[in-house]
Amino acid sequence: MRQLIAGNWKMNATMAEAARIAGPLRDAAGLSCDLVVCPPTTVLMAVAGLLGGSRVEVGGQDCHAAPAGAHTGDISAAMLRDAGALWVILGHSERRGGHGETDALIRAKTTAALAAGLRPIVCVGETQEEHDSNRAMEVVERQVRLSLPPGFVGTLAYEPIWAIGSGRVADEADVTKVHSCIRAIVGPDVRILYGGSVRPENAARLLALPNVDGALVGGASLHPEAFLAIAAASLADAARLEPAAEAGIS
Ligand code: PGA
Repeated sequence: MRQLIAGNWKMNATMAEAARIAGPLRDAAGLSCDLVVCPPTTVLMAVAGLLGGSRVEVGGQDCHAAPAGAHTGDISAAMLRDAGALWVILGHSERRGGHGETDALIRAKTTAALAAGLRPIVCVGETQEEHDSNRAMEVVERQVRLSLPPGFVGTLAYEPIWAIGSGRVADEADVTKVHSCIRAIVGPDVRILYGGSVRPENAARLLALPNVDGALVGGASLHPEAFLAIAAASLADAARLEPAAEAGIS
């Protein structure tokens, strides 16, 4: 499957900044991956317009589980779709942590997103403390099993929380281990992205790992040259190792 490089702008970008970031992405060419940017909702429609006709698709950063109603400050999946989004990030650790989102809520949001025709990118990942006490696999496995509706086909992002915005990337051996464990649960049709301090300097190394089907990029996605450099480090299908053989899963 094609690798996907998705940019999570988080709570950054006024209209002027959004135009500055999205402008250079319009002409992205010669890349072997799919490209998505997830700007804040206030500029999403404008960014979707700016990138219209280009190969870069647009996503939201969250949506409500309900289709409409009395939910002040929230956005439904259908509204994101209406604004030009094709994707949505769900269950990011900044929402799990900062907004108390549970696996059950994320699963409900994922179901709502799929029903509205959005492609969810569901995030999972362990805390520093869970990592230090060797519980990463257990935590991630639970999140994967509980955050996805049955038969889920879409994208997952493994983002160790301690690697997000810290400049500390997870060990290649750990990424390989966690991704192959996720693969064993979700099967061959789910894309599994790595996220957490992905930069142009480390992208080629991470994207070459088995079962790494792309990257979810935060900080570096605010810099179009850096985001495009990460995309340029993606591998064409033909250049990728057979994940099952490489990870040793039979
Ligand atoms: P980062 O963020 O690339 O700045 O570490 C990743 C994310 O939170 O998705």
